[in-house]
Amino acid sequence: MDKRIWSHPVLSFRRGPRVTFRFEDQVVEAYIGETIAAALWAAGIKVIGYSRVYGEPRGPYCMIGKCASCLVEVDGVPNVRSCIEPVRPGITVRRQVNPPRPPSLTKPAKPPGEPVEIHVDLLVIGGGPAGLAAAEEAAGRGLSVLLVDEHHRLGGQMIKQTHKFFGSRRFFGGLRGFQVAERMEKEVAEAGVRVMRQATVFGLYRGGVVGVYDRANNRLVKVYPRAVVASTGAEEKPLLFPGNTMVGVMGAGAAQTFMNEYGIRPGDTAVIVGSGNVGLIVAYQLLQAGVRVAALLEIMPRIGGWFVHAAKLTRMGVPILTRHTVKEARGRGGVLEKVVATMVDEEGRMVPGSEKVFDADLLLLAVGLKPDARLFAQAGAAMRYIPGSGGFVPLRTEMLETSVPGLYVAGDAGGIEEATSAIIEGWIAGAAAAYRLRGDRGALERIRELNRYLWEEYRASPVLARSREAKKMAIVSEEEMEVIRRNNPPHVEFPAG
Ligand SMILES: Cc1cc2nc3c(=O)[nH]c(=O)nc-3n(C[C@H](O)[C@H](O)[C@H](O)COP(=O)(O)OP(=O)(O)OC[C@H]3O[C@@H](n4cnc5c(N)ncnc54)[C@H](O)[C@@H]3O)c2cc1C
Ligand code: FES
Repeated sequence: MDKRIWSHPVLSFRRGPRVTFRFEDQVVEAYIGETIAAALWAAGIKVIGYSRVYGEPRGPYCMIGKCASCLVEVDGVPNVRSCIEPVRPGITVRRQVNPPRPPSLTKPAKPPGEPVEIHVDLLVIGGGPAGLAAAEEAAGRGLSVLLVDEHHRLGGQMIKQTHKFFGSRRFFGGLRGFQVAERMEKEVAEAGVRVMRQATVFGLYRGGVVGVYDRANNRLVKVYPRAVVASTGAEEKPLLFPGNTMVGVMGAGAAQTFMNEYGIRPGDTAVIVGSGNVGLIVAYQLLQAGVRVAALLEIMPRIGGWFVHAAKLTRMGVPILTRHTVKEARGRGGVLEKVVATMVDEEGRMVPGSEKVFDADLLLLAVGLKPDARLFAQAGAAMRYIPGSGGFVPLRTEMLETSVPGLYVAGDAGGIEEATSAIIEGWIAGAAAAYRLRGDRGALERIRELNRYLWEEYRASPVLARSREAKKMAIVSEEEMEVIRRNNPPHVEFPAG
């Protein structure tokens, strides 16, 4: 039943020591470095909890800590996101049930330790490409920097990207995503950045204090930064259809996490919805991991991603069905067994009688990403809904400063794009913080040069035309930003002095 991948054409999985933990009344084997959800999935345990509202079975959906579909109780602590909680030897994990067990039946949780305070020049939230770049740039310019990430590994979504970056060595051209993550992590360490892993930022408050729950040490940390770069990334959008909450229906990125980060086969047979680059790339990666792809469904008359990726899939025998979508997911005990696809007409309406039924234990949704801009909204930053960016994003100046003074945005959190532009935005935000806090003229020069490259060369590519226009819509001048601040005074600010 072990679903781990032991040989792969591109990846070699470095697993830590083998350990065991308890899940309900079972002993589960795992490897250090895996999360609880990954280890359970590898052991063939798919139902890891029940919906609080409907009592229906639930399994992982996003695998990056964004959706709460994988909540479990660990050693008496409820609501632990098992997809980002690393296994530890000897822990006891239980499903959350509906209604919740009375406290008398649960083991009492260890109380949190004493809160600690950290004072720092710059706090970077999120250690994906944008956050790593911001931290390295700012530390290189003499700021004290704390980088906080809720995952136990740095690199964000790059950890699971196996394709090579384009372009020059300056932008990591020729390296695979996970190699770029390793390189950037090393650079950040060399620059003297202090890193907290397994720590979640949950709010930015009056008096410029940022709340962090340090899960690794079970304690609250109050951070007092003079500036903040928030680069919290993105999450996958869901799709509405009967059966969409079944176990086995998940984001395409979640399957990528299982395969490429943990070396676990996410299923035996998959149907994918969405033929953008994520859908096409994940389909190819599934085949590399030994998963059959029964079909790739695309509601539009033509594929959305690059033709070269689609041609490769067609050569490998994957049927790409344009003008098709998912009608229903069916299964037993809340676990997916069949996917019903249907044709749609020119208006996007389902065509009766055109249904095709696929046996599948995986239904992967690759229907777009949405910025994770929650911390900006919570801090009271002025937001705008920009469809081309994937949803609500904070307005910002060319220095990437939002309407909350001293709060900068970089990467997907400010609008969906891709890793290289996230890195460039990270450098800009890190340099902007250095300019704000130290009046570093070299930082100003660097921002000008990076902005020129980003807007006049990199984003000039027709492939990035949509995201370029969308990102433009979120930029306001310094004067406009002052008006926005006067009209919507933010309740948080980070004083430069
Ligand atoms: C599921 C998914 C799959 C993708 N697949 C591809 C692909 O195959 N190819 C491709 O080119 N691009 C892909 N992308 C696009 C990718 O997001 C960008 O290329 C790039 O990784 C964006 O960088 P970032 O630093 O902005 O965000 P991310 O790389 O998403 O990093 C964000 C980081 O912030 C951390 N974080 C978030 N919130 C908090 C918090 N409150 N407290 C502490 N830490 C926090 C996260 O743990 C994460 O490490 C994918 C994106 C997603 C979401
Ligand atoms: S939060 Fe764990 S699967 Fe989404």
